[in-house]
Amino acid sequence: MQVERLTPAIGAEITGIDLSSKLDQATLDEIYRTLLDNLVIFFPDQNLSAAEQLEFAKTFGPIDKPHAVYRHVAGYPQVTLLESDANEVPGTDEWHSDLTFYPNPPFAAILHAREIPPNGGDTLWASMYAAYDALPSSMKTLIEELEAIHDPGSFKNQFLGAERDIAALNAAMSTVGSAVHPIVKIHPMTGKACLYVNASFTRQIVGFTARESDRLLHYLYDHIDQPDFQVRHRWRKGDVAIWDNRVTQHYAVADYFPQHRRMHRVTVVRDSRVSVSRDNSKA
Ligand code: SIN
Repeated sequence: MQVERLTPAIGAEITGIDLSSKLDQATLDEIYRTLLDNLVIFFPDQNLSAAEQLEFAKTFGPIDKPHAVYRHVAGYPQVTLLESDANEVPGTDEWHSDLTFYPNPPFAAILHAREIPPNGGDTLWASMYAAYDALPSSMKTLIEELEAIHDPGSFKNQFLGAERDIAALNAAMSTVGSAVHPIVKIHPMTGKACLYVNASFTRQIVGFTARESDRLLHYLYDHIDQPDFQVRHRWRKGDVAIWDNRVTQHYAVADYFPQHRRMHRVTVVRDSRVSVSRDNSKA
């Protein structure tokens, strides 16, 4: 297994490995360590069936239940289908960590490129360690004890469906709910601090007026959105990406409409190498 670091802040490519084969524990542990060190890792030229992708994902921890909105690969409810074409506009072109509106957002996701447009459709990831480290110390002091409310944000539109079903939206909002997280989080494995607000899902800083909260959150979103903290992946069919959702945000560029792009995603709820049990029952 060869590892090539892609930027100083984030991202590594791993070659010399076939993820569809039975990997021994030492190799799985090395992949995991490479993920912790680089936050997002890319494996070119893989060919995983939905069952193989699920099996590989399970080596990291338990798999999330089927997604509340997105479709899934036929016969595999835990393999989410992210597919866009002339009939389905791409919709994850906002910086976000996955599902932070739950009390225990997932640990990781494994994304496999099955159909890629001839150009466009890249995905960017950003390191929230790097974003935190680069804050002025006065800002670090200001935010260190703060917490923020996360809710589904514009993702709520997905609950409306084609019929603009307000009753369905109301029902989904009360089921999904919201969650409060510290603005500075400590990674459970590395013990390092990272910035934990994202433009998609962070709504308001606890105890602030809406206006004060908007000002500070927009300062932080502008700060996060710097190329120095990012890696941009140009997909090829067969690529697999794994990200540590606890310390990254991602943005799927929606520049390829109406061309076809199809990705299979498996979400790992909990890091089985972290001994503390994390209840993700609402997820
Ligand atoms: C996502 O937000 O999980 C989708 C990323 C992508 O489609 O590249």
